[in-house]
Amino acid sequence: MSTVQENLNYKQYVVDSNLRYFKPHATAVEATFAQEISASLGRSKKSISPKFFYDKRGSELFEKICLLPEYYPTRTEVSILERMRDDLPGYIGDDTRLVELGSGASVKTRLLLDVFSKVQDSTEYIPIDISEILAESSELLLRDYLTLSITGIIDSYEGGLEFLKQYDSRQNLIIFLGSSFGNFSPVYGHLFLQKMRSAMKPGDLFLIGLDLIKERDVLESAYDDSQGVTAQFNLNVLSRINAELGADFDLGNFEHHSAYDAANQRMEMHVRSLADQSVVIPKSGLRLELQKGEMIHTEYSHKYALPQIAGLLRDAGLEIVRTWTDEKELFSLTLARRPVRT
Ligand code: AVI
Repeated sequence: MSTVQENLNYKQYVVDSNLRYFKPHATAVEATFAQEISASLGRSKKSISPKFFYDKRGSELFEKICLLPEYYPTRTEVSILERMRDDLPGYIGDDTRLVELGSGASVKTRLLLDVFSKVQDSTEYIPIDISEILAESSELLLRDYLTLSITGIIDSYEGGLEFLKQYDSRQNLIIFLGSSFGNFSPVYGHLFLQKMRSAMKPGDLFLIGLDLIKERDVLESAYDDSQGVTAQFNLNVLSRINAELGADFDLGNFEHHSAYDAANQRMEMHVRSLADQSVVIPKSGLRLELQKGEMIHTEYSHKYALPQIAGLLRDAGLEIVRTWTDEKELFSLTLARRPVRT
């Protein structure tokens, strides 16, 4: 009988009895990156998917963003998670497994693992992240949580959800924090929630952290901080394309650009060309001709009203269990369940 990892063309790396990873074969990963860049930069409206921000350097820069005074989402979400600590045990069974999408450095995970380790004798955690930072953060978690075992999936969200769907019949609490869902286009967001629902078993829980609509000034300074870390994070995606696809982007010829689009309820980030220039991306078979002032779209970051969040989840066939926010209603966490009978 073939295993889930064979079906999905994954390689398993066993570190020890409580730590292993699954990763797709490397050639498949590179082909996807090169092909996606070829398609998205080959169009007249050029774009780079924000999922490519997170190489090692990009993940480190994102961790720095999370600590910036202007970037309110992380600390606000942490404060809500802290307030949720007394409520969560009511939703976690002896056998519930914690699954995290976009786990990154797993900082917020600790707040949930504290609750799991109070409720359970042993806890299983499945982090799913496209970045190799997952390996480092898993080892750090295991030092502090002695009853924890980790099965990491180093892959895209789609790959990770497909893996989960085929994995076993245990109940999951799947968490997707930090408003990463807000980085999806509305069309993809809808599709993603359907994938999420189909990866969930009846009774499985989904906890999603989403950023709320607020004043333009607060939003725009969160995405264009005074220390220039967000600018470095944005431009780093060009360095990544240079390093991995052999391109010759000259970073001095581009600048960070971000603005709030109130009609579409989203921050939009771009890299803007400072000159007429051409760039070659050999592994994507592309030669780009860029004009001075031309923008390459790199990210949407959608902001929501609470009733919209409930609507999105209900449209995907999930029922709302509970919503938590901070006092100023800057950020929200919503717990939803796949109904037992549908
Ligand atoms: C990961 N994601 C939710 C962040 C956001 O706020 O949209 C990424 C980010 N982009 C610029 N700053 C932070």
